[in-house]
Amino acid sequence: MKKNEVVILTIENYGDGGEGVARVDGMAVFIPFAMIGEVCEVVIILVKKNYAIGKIQKIIEKDQGRCEPFCSVFGKCGGCQIQHMDKDAQSDFKRKKVQDCMTRIGFLQCQVEETVVGEKTRRYRNKLQLPLADNNGLVGGFYAPFSHRMVEINDCEIQDEESLSVFHALRLYSNLTDVKAYDERSHKGLLRHLVVRNSQNGMLITIVINGNFLPQSDVLIREIDKLGLNYGLYINENTEMTNVITSEKYTHLTGLKELNQNDDGLEYSVMPQSFLQVNEEIKDEIYQRAVVEGEITANDVVVNAYSGAGLLTAYFAKISKFCYGIEIIAEATASADKLAKDNGLVSKMKNVTGDCKEVLKKLIPKLKKQRALDLELGKNVGSIIFVLDPPRKGVDSDILEELLKLLPDKIIYISCNPASLARDVGMLVGNLAVTSKGLLKTEDLKKISKYKVKSVTPYDMFPQTKHVEALCVLELN
Ligand SMILES: C[S@@+](CC[C@H](N)C(=O)[O-])C[C@H]1O[C@@H](n2cnc3c(N)ncnc32)[C@H](O)[C@@H]1O
Repeated sequence: MKKNEVVILTIENYGDGGEGVARVDGMAVFIPFAMIGEVCEVVIILVKKNYAIGKIQKIIEKDQGRCEPFCSVFGKCGGCQIQHMDKDAQSDFKRKKVQDCMTRIGFLQCQVEETVVGEKTRRYRNKLQLPLADNNGLVGGFYAPFSHRMVEINDCEIQDEESLSVFHALRLYSNLTDVKAYDERSHKGLLRHLVVRNSQNGMLITIVINGNFLPQSDVLIREIDKLGLNYGLYINENTEMTNVITSEKYTHLTGLKELNQNDDGLEYSVMPQSFLQVNEEIKDEIYQRAVVEGEITANDVVVNAYSGAGLLTAYFAKISKFCYGIEIIAEATASADKLAKDNGLVSKMKNVTGDCKEVLKKLIPKLKKQRALDLELGKNVGSIIFVLDPPRKGVDSDILEELLKLLPDKIIYISCNPASLARDVGMLVGNLAVTSKGLLKTEDLKKISKYKVKSVTPYDMFPQTKHVEALCVLELN
C-alpha cells in the first residue's frame, strides 16, 4: 500500500474512535466516518509500519444507519466523532466497543448486553467546559482532533442552550470591558475557560482566569442577569501553564453558592468542583440498575469507592446496614456529609476524604476483621458489596489485590473507559496479573479465580461521541 493509492474497501470493524477499519493484505486501514458493512472508495493518506489511514472519496454501498451530521463543524471539531451514525448505529458501535475491550484486553468471554440509550441525544449535557481565546474579540470553541487548535463555535447541540447563553453574555462583557482571553503561547490575557454546571434548580458558572481578580465583574453580572437565570458565579484562579482546566482556588462572586438538587427523594447539593455525571437521564438509569444489582438487604455493608458528591452512597445507605463513601476531593465529601445530614442518614453513611488506595488499605482489613468476629459470635452477617466508579484510568492494581483478599460478595463496577474496565475485571476474575514484567495474561491465577462476570451493560451517557459508560456486575464464583 502506498500513500495516495486509491482502493475499494469493505469496512469490517470499528476502531476506538468510531472510525471504520478495513484490511489490506492483513494490515489495518483506519477510515474516519466509514461504517461497518459499507463499501468505500478510499484514498490512502498515511502509511505506517503496522497500519494505514485512509480518507473516504466515495461511499459505494451505504449503511442504513448512516445519517446527515447536524453540526456545521462536525469533523473539524474534536468534540463529537459519530454524528454520521443514527441512534441505533451509535448504540451498536458502543456495544461492540465494550465487547471488544472485554474480549481483547480482559480475555473475558462474557456477552455484553445491548446499550441503554436515553431519550435525549442532543442538548443532554449538564456541564459545559468551554476553552476561550481571542480572535478579534472573545471566542470560544473546542479543539480539533489530536490538536490544540481551537474550532470556534456559536452553538453546540450537545450542550444545553442556557449554558451557551452565558458564553454569549461573557463575550459581551469582554467587548464592553476589553478584558481579553488568555493566550496559552504568551501566557498573557485573563479569560481561560467558561465552566457551567446546569441543573433542575439553577446553574453554577465558573470563569477560570489567569489571575486572582476579574475586573469590572459588575458588568458581567449585569449581562448574565439579563438572561433571567437562577445562578451563582465563581471565579477560579488558574495561573499555571497547564492543560488542567481548574485549580483548587474558587472565589464566590454572587448568587447561588451551591446547587440544591432532589433525586429520588434525596436532597443534595453540588459545589462547582464536585463531580457530577453529565447526562441526568442516563445517570438515573445506571444508579437504579446499580441498586437493583446490589440486591441489598438491611444486613449488608456497602463500600462506594470514588463516591463524588455522595448521591450513590446515600442510595445504598438508605437500604443497607451501612455505606462508606470514599472520595479524594474534600469539597465533594463535604457535600456528601451535608447530604447525609439533610436526609437523616448520618448514622448509616460515612464519607471519607482520601485516596481510595490509602483509605481501603485500612478499611478492608477492618471489614475483614469485623466479619470474622461477627461469624465467631454467631451473628447474622450480611454481604459486603463494593461499588467502584473510578476516573478513566481505572482502579489501582493494589486496590484490586486488596479486594481479592477481602472477597466482597459482589462488586459493581461503573466505568467511563471500557479499556480500563476490561483490564480491571480481567484481574478480578484472574485472567490477568501484575508481574515483574508488567500486566500479563495468566493461566495459573485462574485456579484461584473467585469472581465471575454476571453482566456488562453499556450506557450511552455521551451521545454523538465515541465515549461510553458501562456497568459490570461481578459475583463470587
Ligand atoms: C467517575 S467519578 C464518580 C463519582 C460518583 N460515583 C458519581 O457518580 O457522581 C470519579 C470520582 O473519583 C474521584 N477520585 C479520583 N481519584 C480518586 C482516588 N484516587 N481516590 C478517591 N477518589 C478519587 C473523583 O474526584 C471523582 O469524584
